[in-house]
Amino acid sequence: MDVPDHAAGVDQSPSLAPRRVLVTGGAGFVGSHVVARLMLMGSQVRVLDNFSTGRLENLADAAYGGLTEADVFSADIRTPEGVKIIDEWQPEVVVHLAAQPSVPAAGRSPLYDADVNVFGTVNVLDACVRSGVRLVVNAASSAVFGSVSVDELPVAEDHPMAPVGPYGISKATAVHYLDWYGRQHGLAYTSMVLSNVYGPRQGGSDCGVVSLMTEGLLDGRQVVIYDDGKQTRDFIHVSDVAEAVAIASHHDGVGMVNIASGRQLSVNEVYQAVQEAAGVAQAPRYEPLPWAGEIRNMSLDTRRARDLLGWQPSVGFTEGVRMMVRDARRRRKAGAQIMPAARNLDPALTNR
Ligand SMILES: NC(=O)c1ccc[n+]([C@@H]2O[C@H](COP(=O)([O-])OP(=O)(O)OC[C@H]3O[C@@H](n4cnc5c(N)ncnc54)[C@H](O)[C@@H]3O)[C@@H](O)[C@H]2O)c1
Repeated sequence: MDVPDHAAGVDQSPSLAPRRVLVTGGAGFVGSHVVARLMLMGSQVRVLDNFSTGRLENLADAAYGGLTEADVFSADIRTPEGVKIIDEWQPEVVVHLAAQPSVPAAGRSPLYDADVNVFGTVNVLDACVRSGVRLVVNAASSAVFGSVSVDELPVAEDHPMAPVGPYGISKATAVHYLDWYGRQHGLAYTSMVLSNVYGPRQGGSDCGVVSLMTEGLLDGRQVVIYDDGKQTRDFIHVSDVAEAVAIASHHDGVGMVNIASGRQLSVNEVYQAVQEAAGVAQAPRYEPLPWAGEIRNMSLDTRRARDLLGWQPSVGFTEGVRMMVRDARRRRKAGAQIMPAARNLDPALTNR
């Protein structure tokens, strides 16, 4: 998809931090880091999340930063009531992260994936137009590009979108809708094409490879690597993503922008790094891929993010993995206890 002129041609100069920011999916892995980062820059932040995969404990850092139960809205982006908060609170910026985020789960249930990622997004965008939201910052995925030959890497934003599975299709469709809302209604947007995000609080059985390997090795389980492990991905630390969202929320819309490291790492190299960080040496078990259409290689060109937003990744992979292993160990020590500040965020007390 061409990078749209209406989004790219606007004033790129940074302005003051937005006063009111709504984060959909704010109780999730990426969202909780984004909420904490936005609060740090002085914005008033509210969270809209249906807690399907999100957890209140994820918001402990944000609670230390001043987020209260009145700021957390337990609702579904697919319903009219769910997006009422946008109509009523009239945020300046909406960071839209709520999604069905799993590639395998999208294959198992394309209908649910499309319902949340397409219908839910359109419902959010309609509400943004109605309430005069200045900017939408959206999370797209490198899956929108589909399979790309090695000589086309790293992929730039103007590469054609050619998704190969339901998740990539729904994420690409959401980007097309953003583009239409921009042209039709003047809704400014920044659609961040995220590569593989990793870092603390990533969870769930379909979660990222770094987290699965970390948990597996710390549990003493043998880690399964699908295929030959030579497939590559571009890994970006979640704190770099949160920083990118914070910077983007100061700007006008820049359209599609890759947020990634720009570097390919094979799954075998990732496993090596996690083993070293965990201080555990154990051979993985190789198994055939249980699903079709796996993308073989991926990395994203980040020059546009640098030029338009002044953003660059700052956490190196080795250091990022070390931090993740340290965090996983700390959490194990603390058990499944809810951190003290998160106790103030009782789900039963959050707004509906
Ligand atoms: N993690 C990655 O590697 C990665 C890569 C590319 C893009 N993304 C995108 O980043 C965003 C965040 O992903 P994540 O990894 O933090 O996943 P996550 O599952 O941790 O976060 C998604 C959040 O959205 C909420 N949610 C889901 N359906 C909802 C609904 N119908 N109404 C309201 N809330 C709902 C969940 O409860 C959860 O808190 C998603 O849009 C995802 O597609 C993630």
